[in-house]
Amino acid sequence: MPNEKDILTQLQKIPYPGSRHDIVTLGLVRTVTLQENNVTVHFRPSSATPDTLQRLSQKITATLSAVSGIGTVSIHTGRPSGPEAGPGPVTAPGKTPLPGVNKVIAVASGKGGVGKSTVAVNLAMAIHALGYRVGLLDADVYGPSVPLMMGTEAVPRAGHDKKIFPVEKYGISLISMGFFLDDESPVIWRGPVVMGIIRQFLRDVLWGELDYLIVDLPPGTGDASLTLAQEIPLSGGVVVSTPQDVALLDVNRGIAMFRQVHVPILGIVENMSYYLCPHCGEREEIFGHGGTAKTGLEVLGEIPLVEEVRTGGDTGKPIVLQHPEHPVSQAFRTLAARVIEASQMSIH
Ligand SMILES: Nc1ncnc2c1ncn2[C@@H]1O[C@H](COP(=O)(O)OP(=O)(O)OP(=O)(O)O)[C@@H](O)[C@H]1O
Ligand SMILES: [Mg+2]
Repeated sequence: MPNEKDILTQLQKIPYPGSRHDIVTLGLVRTVTLQENNVTVHFRPSSATPDTLQRLSQKITATLSAVSGIGTVSIHTGRPSGPEAGPGPVTAPGKTPLPGVNKVIAVASGKGGVGKSTVAVNLAMAIHALGYRVGLLDADVYGPSVPLMMGTEAVPRAGHDKKIFPVEKYGISLISMGFFLDDESPVIWRGPVVMGIIRQFLRDVLWGELDYLIVDLPPGTGDASLTLAQEIPLSGGVVVSTPQDVALLDVNRGIAMFRQVHVPILGIVENMSYYLCPHCGEREEIFGHGGTAKTGLEVLGEIPLVEEVRTGGDTGKPIVLQHPEHPVSQAFRTLAARVIEASQMSIH
């Protein structure tokens, strides 16, 4: 008798028309519910045409009906409401939501140095500027960037029961391994220790009430990313890439990681998308702007390469805060609005 996870695995075999990715990875599937042996699949509202939705529904019915032990298959192509919504969303066993934290968004990339931390920090600041309560968890325990980029080396205060308070800066709650290390500390932890640290950052930090917890992941698909995805239900993943083909090859590894743990990908951010000349304001597309669209993921934002982004990171004053009128800050605010919108549709 298949369970809901088995059904999701089956649905991952169905590509989205015109894309190399499947319907689960692209976030089309909102919920899967199983009552006795009858399956109901709810789609998330999307820009797909009625024709595409119908073809996908037929494909799903054919795929699931071929699985032994499955009875009827019903598909709802709109947002579930009222009694039709059925029992709650699929949450894999072992995942417990963080109390008081509404949405958790992970920022990932297949390759290092593409600007994940820069995007995570400015995204957090831009969401906060829109009036939300925001936390930022630096899951890069080997190379934490959040203390430098947010301009604080404060030591988190201890609470009761071995819990710790996050550090507050610019209205955002922060936790990072950088707060617990001095510059000389060798960072040589093995996998299980990394997993333990991530678990503690989730469970032992007094996050309080947050609308959004943004997680800055280390590059690639290591222990920190998997632990995060296995410990708590994530609202979605945001993939960061530069537009060159070599960087895009690595994106697939990031996609595969989210897919393996059934985390929907909200979309991709094209960083260093083009060079914005500080003198004439002209755009120069040095890395081949627009390349990330080839991934088939929704492009949530295009952030140009500009010096103020780097200096903002190096001086601990994110550009969104330091130069709110800069076109890049506007690009980060647009990104924030899109991430909020996409995450609202997420089941977690
Ligand atoms: N749009 C941009 N314009 C100018 N500089 C940028 C931009 N995005 C990132 N940078 C700079 O590029 C460098 C790498 O960025 P960042 O640390 O955010 O990447 P990362 O993907 O988090 O790296 P890692 O994989 O090491 O964690 C930093 O010096 C940052 O300031
Ligand atoms: Mg980083």
